[in-house]
Amino acid sequence: MAAATVAVDAEYLKEVERARRDLRALISSKSCAPIMLRLAWHDAGTYDAKTKTGGPNGSIRNEEEYKHSSNNGLKIAIDLCVYQISVPNGSGFALISEEVKAKHPKISYADLYQLAGVVAVEVTGGPTIDFVAGRKDSTDCPKEGRLPDAKQGAPHLRDIFYRMGLSDKDIVALSGGHTLGRAHRERSGFEGPWTAEPLKFDNSYFVELLKEDSEGLLKLPTDKALVEDPEFRRYVEIYAKDEEAFFNDYAASHKKLSELGFTPPSCFKLAVKNPAILAQSAVGVAVAAAVVILSYFYEVHRRVK
Ligand code: HEM
Repeated sequence: MAAATVAVDAEYLKEVERARRDLRALISSKSCAPIMLRLAWHDAGTYDAKTKTGGPNGSIRNEEEYKHSSNNGLKIAIDLCVYQISVPNGSGFALISEEVKAKHPKISYADLYQLAGVVAVEVTGGPTIDFVAGRKDSTDCPKEGRLPDAKQGAPHLRDIFYRMGLSDKDIVALSGGHTLGRAHRERSGFEGPWTAEPLKFDNSYFVELLKEDSEGLLKLPTDKALVEDPEFRRYVEIYAKDEEAFFNDYAASHKKLSELGFTPPSCFKLAVKNPAILAQSAVGVAVAAAVVILSYFYEVHRRVK
């Protein structure tokens, strides 16, 4: 099942803001932004637009799904969101993780993982990504094989991302998520970071992609495909030159990814997704204010007479 919605009331929204603060603290103190972003992407990236299955619905928390080989290592991020983890520190045990989910039980796992992805980008210096709450949890796990295989090239990337309903521009912008973090041999068979500062969200992933030789830095076959394919390369060149263009496109593509198969509750959809309605409301407020001011001056003028 794709992401359905939960009832989002004022209390739920307050909880989301509290969880956002807790996630900021957790992600900063544990330097776990990269794996949190990867968790959000792997929960969402199973979406199939034709069958409307998969997507950001929290199903990755189920053993059946986090045991898929493409999700190797992500149990760490799932546990960081949920459990209080203690480790021996010589004189006893030290708490290394707040229980974000336990502190905010109302919030769906689906929302929590997507919020963690948004916060991970934000606290590492990336763009602000609009977050709309209301995703419902599912226990239906998609079959293994819906996420991209790093050993393949451009046609495979298109198969996978077009299946989600995403575009070439989304593929390149979202691949910029590799500005954060690193590969771990024991998880994926690959090793090393893509950039010199893997805890900083910037456009350096694209700058490195265009260099012939980036000593000690990783380029997956799917990363290389972005410079080899002329349509993808167009965006790589723009993003390497213009960080603001990358941030704008990244924020839009990340929002799309985080909302695959999810129709935000109607009040948010109206306010957030439709700038025309916002503009109409603004005009309405301006007209009302003008009427009040004119009436006031008319009244003053009348009294003076
Ligand atoms: C385009 C297709 C993609 C492929 C083939 C791919 C593949 C991979 C691989 C093999 C790893 C290494 C995992 C490990 O060994 O720990 C990785 C890590 C990562 N990926 Fe991707 N990825 C893709 C797209 C994305 C997207 C769209 C995002 C986010 C928007 C993303 C975010 C990350 C992050 C942040 C890490 C680092 C995780 C860590 O440091 O623990 N990736 N990816």
